[in-house]
Amino acid sequence: MSRYKINNLEEYFKEYKKSVREPKKFWDKIASENFTWYQEWSKVVDFNMADAEIKWFEDAKVNITKNCIDRHLAKKGDKTAIIFEPNDPTEEAQHISYTELHQRVSKMANVLRDQGIQKGDRVCIYLPMIPELAITTLACARIGAIHSVVFAGFSASAVATRINDSECKMVITSDGGYRGNKTIDLKGIVDEALTNTPCVEKVLVVKRTNTAIQMKDGRDQWLQPLLDQASDNNTAEIMDAEDPLFILYTSGSTGKPKGMVHTTAGYMVYTAYTFKNVFNYEDNDIFWCTADIGWITGHSYILYGPLLNGATTVIFEGVPSYPDFSRFWEIIEKHQVNQFYTAPTAIRALAKESLDYVQRFPLKSLKVIGSVGEPINEEAWHWYNDHVGDKRCPVVDTWWQTETGGIMISPIPFVTPTKPTYATLPLPGIQPVLMDEKRNEIEDNQVVGSLCIKFPWPGIARTIWGDHQRYKETYFSAFPGKYFTGDGALRDEVGYYRITGRVDDVVIVSGHNLGTAPIEDAINEHPAVAESAIVGFPHDVKGNALYGYVILKETGESRDRENLMREINQQISNQIGPIAKLDKIQFVSGLPKTRSGKIMRRILRKIAEGDFSNFGDTSTLLNPEIVEEIKNGKL
Ligand code: WTA
Repeated sequence: MSRYKINNLEEYFKEYKKSVREPKKFWDKIASENFTWYQEWSKVVDFNMADAEIKWFEDAKVNITKNCIDRHLAKKGDKTAIIFEPNDPTEEAQHISYTELHQRVSKMANVLRDQGIQKGDRVCIYLPMIPELAITTLACARIGAIHSVVFAGFSASAVATRINDSECKMVITSDGGYRGNKTIDLKGIVDEALTNTPCVEKVLVVKRTNTAIQMKDGRDQWLQPLLDQASDNNTAEIMDAEDPLFILYTSGSTGKPKGMVHTTAGYMVYTAYTFKNVFNYEDNDIFWCTADIGWITGHSYILYGPLLNGATTVIFEGVPSYPDFSRFWEIIEKHQVNQFYTAPTAIRALAKESLDYVQRFPLKSLKVIGSVGEPINEEAWHWYNDHVGDKRCPVVDTWWQTETGGIMISPIPFVTPTKPTYATLPLPGIQPVLMDEKRNEIEDNQVVGSLCIKFPWPGIARTIWGDHQRYKETYFSAFPGKYFTGDGALRDEVGYYRITGRVDDVVIVSGHNLGTAPIEDAINEHPAVAESAIVGFPHDVKGNALYGYVILKETGESRDRENLMREINQQISNQIGPIAKLDKIQFVSGLPKTRSGKIMRRILRKIAEGDFSNFGDTSTLLNPEIVEEIKNGKL
């Protein structure tokens, strides 16, 4: 994959302008120079944003696994494709070469075909972060089956909803999974889910924990014996550019989960291109993204992006706190990781612990460090920059979404000067705009607005499985002709973007647009505060006022709450202005979070409004018990 030939910001702006003036030419060149196609496209892009119809590389024929694996064999057969680092540090790491990956994916693809899976069938994959998760996912792509990976932290009912929504014929799971000092009974969860999923015909089970499990006759089979008998000679399916590659459900913080559908060629081009450029990947680098493959970040930047570039990618089974809080840093040192990509929630959790955990390791191999998934607050950004990146590695704060397929707004390392809490500039090919409440495009800088994208890019999801109308309404109706991200953003004086959070998190106080993230930042900088969340609640005079939920650091000493409230408000006043002061503060011991670490503000808003009647679906919460505590604290 080619890299931008950009050395500084001026050159970036030049390249960017070219990509906007001639987007077709821009993507045509990237697609034709960097991949192997059975047949090239007749049209680069065809779209009608009003109907939410988007096609890239029409009529092209391709198989993404040929591009991820086969084409690297001649020159890089012995190169490590995947490093598997187990949960338990005393278990040996595995190095899977491109040749071995090719054999294992081919065998798995043959097993799937033998078991009756055909192009277009949906396969649900519910596995821990072990090599088989990557291998089965790729095997689906190889035969044109549509994978639907469900994060192995979801409950039986969440798994069942997702299986039924896309009518999966098969489920691939394991006897169990390790996470820190816990063993999770994945097969038991699948068994429970499958009591109500008539579409599922077969279950294949990977052995990982040797947990005693039930096997249902005629439905369940151990995978290994099937692999042992399978040939490693497999012909990849020839896929149409717009054939679906996978379905991935968004975390479902609102209503029924949405099965976002990504298609083959555009997703391939976009993930490969963004991986190479955002992480500045060089041929012998070791790349580690700590996400789970069950989320889009794992799909795009553990699997597809790295493998499309012939990279070495790390798959880590465990958690950052086991056996202790040095685990991430120890792994970076052990495997000499060059690019490290994680989430602000992990950074904040690790920053709360003793500095010694990270300072024990020189971390000299690191070149670029990244952040994704939520706004990174200033304190966390500096901690990451100072103690992990040693002020030497650019911090790439990457903004994107399940729906966008790949990174959209991010610094380019060694080109874009970074600025804490700013995702900075759009990648070439991406055309963000800020919209005001009257649905007009805001031209000026130093403004806040709803973040939209006004021209399609290859990685955009094409639809919601089984519900194109919902796709159209959710993403293309609020601002006709544009893709609406659901996020608010601030554009500073030089055009840098700072994501202020979901637009539904923007609170208008006395006519002022206030993003909750910057206020939370200010609060979190108070030495006694560990974390906070702000929501709006109705106010007679101001329209809305701000309600803050604040978690205090556990220092053992008691603090005068009245004083603390005053200090916190003073802090906000100092950093943002008196307008952003909180009307109410509630001290809590935790915040309701989804399994991907996002605060479920919908619930916090209801509690702040004093409406305890209907909290909606809380099944995806990691800590449902906290809702009761917060509610009781409010009463
Ligand atoms: C948020 C994850 C601020 C944002 C790839 C977006 C971010 C949602 C950032 C998508 C960032 C993601 N700064 N906010 N760098 N990255 N977000 O679908 O609100 O799990 O809309 O995709 O996360 O979350 P998703």
